[in-house]
Amino acid sequence: MPIITPRIGIVGAGAIANSHVEGLRAAGCEVVAVADPFEAARNRFVGVHKVVAYTSLAEMRAAEKLDAISVCTPNSLHAPVAVEALENGLHVLCEKPPSTSLAAAVQMRDAGRKSGKLLMMGFNQRFDANAQELARLRDKGLFGQIYHAKAGWVRRRGIPGMGGWFTTKAMAGGGPVYDIGIHVLDRTWFVMGRPKPISVSAITYAKFGNIEKYVCEGMWAGPRKMGGTCDTEDFAAAFVRFDNGATMQLEVSWAANRPDENCKTMVMGDKAGATWDGEQVELYGEFDNAITTSQIQYDRSIYDDRFKHFAKCLRGEATCSCTGDDGVAIQSILDAIYESSRQGREVQITIPA
Ligand SMILES: NC(=O)c1ccc[n+]([C@@H]2O[C@H](COP(=O)([O-])OP(=O)(O)OC[C@H]3O[C@@H](n4cnc5c(N)ncnc54)[C@H](O)[C@@H]3O)[C@@H](O)[C@H]2O)c1
Repeated sequence: MPIITPRIGIVGAGAIANSHVEGLRAAGCEVVAVADPFEAARNRFVGVHKVVAYTSLAEMRAAEKLDAISVCTPNSLHAPVAVEALENGLHVLCEKPPSTSLAAAVQMRDAGRKSGKLLMMGFNQRFDANAQELARLRDKGLFGQIYHAKAGWVRRRGIPGMGGWFTTKAMAGGGPVYDIGIHVLDRTWFVMGRPKPISVSAITYAKFGNIEKYVCEGMWAGPRKMGGTCDTEDFAAAFVRFDNGATMQLEVSWAANRPDENCKTMVMGDKAGATWDGEQVELYGEFDNAITTSQIQYDRSIYDDRFKHFAKCLRGEATCSCTGDDGVAIQSILDAIYESSRQGREVQITIPA
């Protein structure tokens, strides 16, 4: 049954939730409520967005007639919150990452299947016009066979909210792999055509986790919390194999003694290749006797952001292109990165059907 003007509640009234309210309202949804156990977060959010606040999803569900929720909590709560919503008849848009373990991501995917409700992963970077345009060019055959890709996001100094939930493995799942690596991993995988991951060889390091001694210019996601927890990695390198023979290298850091590398995707095909670094997309190919490099201009307005896509799916105008299965595939790579690093060897990936 199409929902023309979806009524939405936000779960988690923190930083990213602001863009969810703005994006969902711009997409024609009514954002009417928020749930967050912390009074200060609720009060700030209500003041800005004029919604009704509740202390929990259960309380919000009981009091409001909602069609959907948007999950904006710390990572470890994504799956339980999404499952609770799906089991109670609500559609779900879930922030990245899907979860903090493959088992929980599978549980969330299965709850979506069983409920018949929409479970959409909020992988925003694959909705960037550059990713969508590169995928369209791939479908036209521009790249030929994409056989290798590189995804990187390296910060020289950029640990978020040190000592808080971002650097606490039990809540975040991991460090930069979960925070920023997943963005470039997902968008690069999306441009590759979403091949099935089969194995990962990876290493993670934790070298900058001393909260008192960490040197930086400033810290986003809140000031450092002395005496807090910082038990996540701060650097990871991975090599992923896919069932179509393609491979991907991933490099990600919150802190490293090397230059910054901004959010980079590179794909290599046997007919052409591409890089997307920050804003700029470049294509690499050949024509007759010439080796060509070109920068592309195109109509960006034909592509929907994640909020417009979610609203269109609820209205029955689109089929979800960022599914629970995609979340499980990405989560399987995240889990394998840590498992490979722990075992010191390549590990196989098995994705539950
Ligand atoms: N897509 C992106 O570019 C992007 C950017 C930043 C963050 N994120 C993701 O968004 C999520 C939130 O990140 P953030 O930066 O907004 O964090 P944040 O700490 O600012 O906000 C999290 C909020 O969740 C609330 N919360 C905690 N437990 C809760 C519960 N049981 N029920 C409801 N609310 C609860 C906290 O009180 C807080 O207000 C994370 O999963 C993060 O990975 C995505």
